Amino acid sequence: MRVPIIAANWKMYKTTAEAQDFLGKFSGMVTAGKIEVVICPPFTLLCAVAALCRQSGLKLGAQNMFWEMSGPYTGEVSPRHLADLGVHYVLLGHSERRQHFDETEEDISRKVKAAFAADLTPIVCVGESWPERLAGQTANVVQRQLASALRDLDPSQVRRVVVAYEPVWAIGSGLPAARNDAEQAALELRRQIGEQFSLKVARDVRIQYGGSVNPENIREFMGSPEIDGALVGGASLNAESFAALVSSAAQAEAL
Ligand code: 13P
Repeated sequence: MRVPIIAANWKMYKTTAEAQDFLGKFSGMVTAGKIEVVICPPFTLLCAVAALCRQSGLKLGAQNMFWEMSGPYTGEVSPRHLADLGVHYVLLGHSERRQHFDETEEDISRKVKAAFAADLTPIVCVGESWPERLAGQTANVVQRQLASALRDLDPSQVRRVVVAYEPVWAIGSGLPAARNDAEQAALELRRQIGEQFSLKVARDVRIQYGGSVNPENIREFMGSPEIDGALVGGASLNAESFAALVSSAAQAEAL
């Protein structure tokens, strides 16, 4: 059984006081059931959020990291730094990092391997752009991105990976993918893992959908047997809206 996972990607938002306010409210409002809930704050808030997550049964995630464990890399944060703070998950290959920071597939593959070396679980983000979608390239693009991110891993590691299917055009646009399209992409991704590793491994990997997920549409995505949760940007910034989203997902799962 795959445990559903909903992760909040706070991107470059929130101060310490805002994060404390969010978590104080959120834990009193949410009914998460068996859903695993992950908060991915900016690096500067990891320490403060770690303490609050421990008290409320939430998992802690980071939004990025470098692939080296230590060294003369001014300004970078290493997998060991994250593990040291009690971080469990790390988002890797988010489209905003590919777009604005020129992260290549080679970089992402190195980071995925480094995450496992520090006992962190990667949430590997993949997704097609609008022109790629129009050209009928969705399956090719996401399968290529995933194959590259997972190369050189062994099956026991791949089984722990979380994949986030986030079409670039759906991020922050208010226009989520249709459930059937998200489900189709999840199927293609699972097929890719099956071919690269094994069907058994493919069955264990959790696949999230991300891109304009909100408290109203989460039920629809959770209703798909292929989709195991969501990666949420905008709707995760407000405690009421994120609690409503997680509670609604938990209800959908319980049906
Ligand atoms: P939105 O939920 O704001 O569309 O962002 C999605 C995202 O990028 C999560 O990683």
